[in-house]
Amino acid sequence: MIRLLSAYRETWLKFYLSSPQRYLMKKNKTKPTLINSYQKLINISCDLASELDLNILLSKIVNAASEVCDSEEASILMFDPAKNTLYFQAATNLDTGLKRGLVVPLEESIAGWIVKNQEPVIVDDPQKDTRHFNSIDSITNIKTDSLLGIPLLSKGKVIGVLEVINKRGGKFTQEDQDVMLALGAQATVAIDNSRLFLQSDLIGEFVHQIRTPLSALNAATHLLKSNRVDDQQKKKMIDIMEAEIEALSDMSSAFLDLARLQSGRKQYSVTEFSIRELLSECYDIFYSETQQQAIRFNLDIPDTLPRVTGDRKQLKQAFTNLLNNAVKYNHEGGEITLKALAKKKQVIISVSDSGMGIPEDEQSLIFEKFYRVRSHRDLVPGTGLGLSVVKQIVTDHGGAITLTSEVNVGTTFTVTLPADK
Ligand SMILES: Nc1ncnc2c1ncn2[C@@H]1O[C@H](COP(=O)(O)OP(=O)(O)OP(=O)(O)O)[C@@H](O)[C@H]1O
Ligand SMILES: [Mg+2]
Repeated sequence: MIRLLSAYRETWLKFYLSSPQRYLMKKNKTKPTLINSYQKLINISCDLASELDLNILLSKIVNAASEVCDSEEASILMFDPAKNTLYFQAATNLDTGLKRGLVVPLEESIAGWIVKNQEPVIVDDPQKDTRHFNSIDSITNIKTDSLLGIPLLSKGKVIGVLEVINKRGGKFTQEDQDVMLALGAQATVAIDNSRLFLQSDLIGEFVHQIRTPLSALNAATHLLKSNRVDDQQKKKMIDIMEAEIEALSDMSSAFLDLARLQSGRKQYSVTEFSIRELLSECYDIFYSETQQQAIRFNLDIPDTLPRVTGDRKQLKQAFTNLLNNAVKYNHEGGEITLKALAKKKQVIISVSDSGMGIPEDEQSLIFEKFYRVRSHRDLVPGTGLGLSVVKQIVTDHGGAITLTSEVNVGTTFTVTLPADK
């Protein structure tokens, strides 16, 4: 095993020290500090290669970049060729997933220059550089005093930019750049792997889930073709087919939403808005549906609530999903309460219902993709994706979601979101 590891280490060193990248070729003398950094890189690379969760992987890469270059901060911006945009995907100083979507203009940023020129760059004083995207300093609250950025190249195409800013006690050197290029090459392979894994994992689950409705449709088609069914049975089968087609269609769109969120390519559109107004809108959406089912629908929101910074549309989707469940898993004559209150620097929003409830042993499973409570599966249609979407949105906003529930008594979902002062 040890022999295997040292062989790997040697091959790795040889690979990077003889890498055809011209920036590495420029070096003909290898200083001890560079060897130390490569040594660090070898350890990091083993760690990166085994990480398949894209968000964790990206955060490991930025931490590694910051460590090997001894910089204050590091970030990864991903390039979306379809939209021709560049946006933050991970950074050592971004505590929530929210700033992930922050778009950086291609034309007016050093990162944009790197994408266009496919070249690394060291900038000693970004404030004096016309390419520097000034607004980023105020958004992140960090003044950029020095910067080193490299393109992340996969099969000759730029997939993103890895940047380190503010070298501790000096300026970024050619050696830092060499080490970053080596890290960038390793990071790109790991990002490609993780994206492929995520896709195959999600596709596998999706295919598994659509098997049941597809086989129901298949069986119904065969029976209809065989002419062995009377008119009444025919009508019943067509109804079943209609319901299965609807289920497939719902599943496809819900799945697409979730896949987008989990792929790490979701770009949030962040604004500051009134959470009070948003919750009132959600209340209005469900009001008539609750009245049709004689459900008492209460709105318990104080006149003033702090504002929230986030993606309004996505948060609306999250509360809509929760209210949709509160109606769906309720019964005629039941009750729903949408409540909100402010606490310290948080807004706490709860959706309570007097419905079917969730057995204790299944409560920890319901946020998993496709999971549906056993006793509900034959009673109420659903894809089992709604809560996964809610959880992803809420955690990306730096919030949390919990629940309390009792069978045949009801359920309360509580969402805590960071609020503005
Ligand atoms: N308010 C609730 N009361 C009782 N059970 C619930 C409630 N909310 C969710 N559940 C249970 O958790 C499961 C997962 O919920 P989720 O919203 O993810 O999926 P779904 O409602 O089945 O489908 P979808 O929301 O995609 O239409 C549900 O199938 C249901 O069994
Ligand atoms: Mg649901």
